[in-house]
Amino acid sequence: TPRLVILISGTGSNMLALVEACRRGDLDATVAGVISNRPDAAGVQHARDRDIPALVVDHKEFSDRLAFDKAMMDAIDEFDPDLVVLAGFMRILTPEFVRHYQGRLLNIHPSLLPLYPGLNTHQRAIDAGDSTHGVSVHFVTEELDGGPVVAQAVVSVTADDSANSLKDKVHAQEHVLYPIVVKWFVEGRLRLTSKSVTLDGKELPASGLR
Ligand code: GAR
Repeated sequence: TPRLVILISGTGSNMLALVEACRRGDLDATVAGVISNRPDAAGVQHARDRDIPALVVDHKEFSDRLAFDKAMMDAIDEFDPDLVVLAGFMRILTPEFVRHYQGRLLNIHPSLLPLYPGLNTHQRAIDAGDSTHGVSVHFVTEELDGGPVVAQAVVSVTADDSANSLKDKVHAQEHVLYPIVVKWFVEGRLRLTSKSVTLDGKELPASGLR
């Protein structure tokens, strides 16, 4: 069975969506381990409650980004993953890390990329007066939130939406979308090529599938 390692920094609701998909049999994979860079991340306990090994690699204990990333790589590789899944992992990764997992590193980002890379995406969508917003799953490359998009889910923004209500709408979509994309990957259907992503050998559009 394909092995997943999931990296988190917070609640881990996306991690739990993947764990549940495996438990239900929707996703034929094993969550081999969860790693958090924050000792207080709620997701660490959520994983342990489900008998999934969860480690903390505290970025504050390292003198620089590369030292932290090397410790992360060691911890991740102990679990021998086929795919590394970033699920609310809030650290910028070094090129060394990204290259090490090239083609087997996915991220979920709460915006319709290329709109709003970085933080505070929900507020930025509201401030821009956007009528739609959403979430993207993409392969990670050396460009921050810039790797090729595999799939997006769209939500509508209504006049009464706040950053918080929008976050909830996006989360609901994330929990559906991420297991689907991970399923494509573990079934061997998804590939990162030199310039794009293919699903079943067909190149995907720049915005991914919607
Ligand atoms: C998710 O909304 C995810 O898209 C976002 O963090 C949240 C984590 O929630 N990721 C980023 O902002 C990446 N830069 P979770 O811990 O409940 O899965």
